[in-house]
Amino acid sequence: QEKRIIIAIDGPAASGKSTTARKVADRLGYTYIDTGAMYRSVTLKAIESGLMDTLRSSPERVVDLLAGLSVCFSGDRIMLDGRDVTLAIRENRVSREVSFISSLKPVRDTMRQMQQDMGRGRGVVMDGRDIGTVVFPDAELKVFLTADVRQRAMRRYAELAVKSGDPSELPCLEDLEREILDRDRADAEREHAPLKKHPDARELDTSSLTIDVQTDMVCSMAEDILKKKQNG
Ligand code: CDP
Ligand code: CDP
Repeated sequence: QEKRIIIAIDGPAASGKSTTARKVADRLGYTYIDTGAMYRSVTLKAIESGLMDTLRSSPERVVDLLAGLSVCFSGDRIMLDGRDVTLAIRENRVSREVSFISSLKPVRDTMRQMQQDMGRGRGVVMDGRDIGTVVFPDAELKVFLTADVRQRAMRRYAELAVKSGDPSELPCLEDLEREILDRDRADAEREHAPLKKHPDARELDTSSLTIDVQTDMVCSMAEDILKKKQNG
């Protein structure tokens, strides 16, 4: 019986986490879990419930939002309270508020519990900000992806250019870069489970790597660990 591990991939915005994690999971036959999508779903719920102003003055009220919350994955779709929100969670209004909602302790406690349940049987690749540090500090493989901020903004720009039919709707590169930096700072400076590299995480700068190369590198790290597990 093959031993299965947990692969934790953390790093700043647009460093290539989800692209890499999804491909590594495909190759190993593991389950990919996008924890950013879970935080985005809670944020969407806060916006749609009209609670944003209340939460900014009384953040403790977030527990009302979490009571009865259901977030789950169905193949490559994410479901919030039974509704498919895969596209809605990528909207700008969500990106603008997600770091604030993610900084609230009750939100983190609830998401961590759900994520630990999802990874219980191992055989998962999970990406986010605090997977190697807080959610699975015992993950056999921890990777911390980084890339030059200009490079990251350009990649996001290219992604938006492909998706959007109307070029006049595209934000400018400078705005994208500022949004990325603002979110990274908020995520790194928060009190609970801030974005940071676990001392044991292997850092990979993807600035000048291709997607295939960074996927190969993470897969071979995983295969080394699996080989050692089988022999030991
Ligand atoms: O847009 P991008 O793919 O870079 O971000 P994401 O992975 O979708 O995460 C969106 C936001 O969720 C982050 O900026 C964090 O504020 C929050 N997040 C978190 O706090 N902890 C995680 N494990 C994952 C995401
Ligand atoms: O999940 P995270 O926000 O860290 O990043 P991502 O959504 O996986 O990657 C951001 C964009 O960079 C995607 O369009 C990727 O296809 C692209 N990209 C990459 O991840 N790695 C490269 N070496 C080149 C481009």
